[in-house]
Amino acid sequence: MMYKTIFKCRYILAVMVFCALGQVRAQKTSFQPGKLWFDNNQRLINAHGGGVLYHEGKYYWFGEHKGEQSNAAWVGVTCYSSADLYNWEDEGVALAVSKDEDSPIVEGSTIERPKVIYNEETEKFVMYFHLELKGRGYEAAHVGIATSDNPAGPYQFIKNGRVNSGKWPSNMTEGQRTSTDKPDDYEWWTKEWMNAIENGLFVRRDFKAGQMSRDMTLFVDDDHKAYHIYSSEDNLTLHIAELTEDYLDYTGKYIRIEPGGHNEAPAIFKKDGRYFMITSGCTGWDPNAARLLTADHILGQWTLHPNPCVGKDAELTFHSQGTFILPVAGKNDAFIFMADRWRPENPIDGRYVWLPILFEDGMHILQWSNQWDLSVFDQLD
Ligand code: GAL
Repeated sequence: MMYKTIFKCRYILAVMVFCALGQVRAQKTSFQPGKLWFDNNQRLINAHGGGVLYHEGKYYWFGEHKGEQSNAAWVGVTCYSSADLYNWEDEGVALAVSKDEDSPIVEGSTIERPKVIYNEETEKFVMYFHLELKGRGYEAAHVGIATSDNPAGPYQFIKNGRVNSGKWPSNMTEGQRTSTDKPDDYEWWTKEWMNAIENGLFVRRDFKAGQMSRDMTLFVDDDHKAYHIYSSEDNLTLHIAELTEDYLDYTGKYIRIEPGGHNEAPAIFKKDGRYFMITSGCTGWDPNAARLLTADHILGQWTLHPNPCVGKDAELTFHSQGTFILPVAGKNDAFIFMADRWRPENPIDGRYVWLPILFEDGMHILQWSNQWDLSVFDQLD
């Protein structure tokens, strides 16, 4: 009897040790850009075009849920949480698509590039995303807004639409505002048309209905003011729009950046009082060379710099397109460039490319690494 009990206890202990070892083995301690990334349930992380919120000691990664055949939203925005950035726990669906055909976020609509920020005043988590209405391709160019009382959700859909209708960008001159030429006066892609675009042809076209908003990110500054940064004017020009104090609307203050410059996939961070933005060119799901922009004021003058990527495949952003720049909590000047390697023929197989932002002579650079961990940032201190 005694012997049997000891045997049983040893057996249970062995199983426990085995499980614990398995657990330890499963703990990841590095990033492997472009490889398959699994969550705590050993399922592929499905959070594309994502962004990360850091809240009370935890990171929350929000992204587009993608299926095998279509890029449309059949599930919604997913959420994963992590304490260390390497190991991610599935938090389920943060914003679910609706079954109601009248809802702007009905199953089969397109929900892309969700980002979440926290409003300390209202204590609400606020999600913005690029929304395309079902059956209308990419024509609507709307922003969608949802809120929640909890970081991982569930988020309630609030509203959608174009941006800043009836408002002029503050860096558009009086002459540009009052010009009377129309899109029909030009043939697309001619020199004259490009010139007219730079002078605000599409801003005027969309003045009443509101400005188009596709690829996007959000940014909260040190003074708690938040900004929506989005590709507008048929993806030809980036806009940065200031949000109201509750982050649920626009103050009407906004600027155009690089008119006609074809910037998509904006991602931004701030270091030593200076704003850095990495964008992509505009080639759909195909990768292209990233661009770097800097400014001393977020609504100020932005300067374009050469591609921040160096080394092999730099001209293709290492076969990826940026989505967010993640500041690592508790480390100085530690930022991670998050990007997607899209697979439009099997969207769920899109891969995550996360790379550390390194600095050289005050400018930052991105270089490929098969595997890396957060200790790369310690060398910067
Ligand atoms: C990309 C964009 C993606 C998605 C895609 C659709 O340029 O960055 O988020 O919208 O186009 O073709």
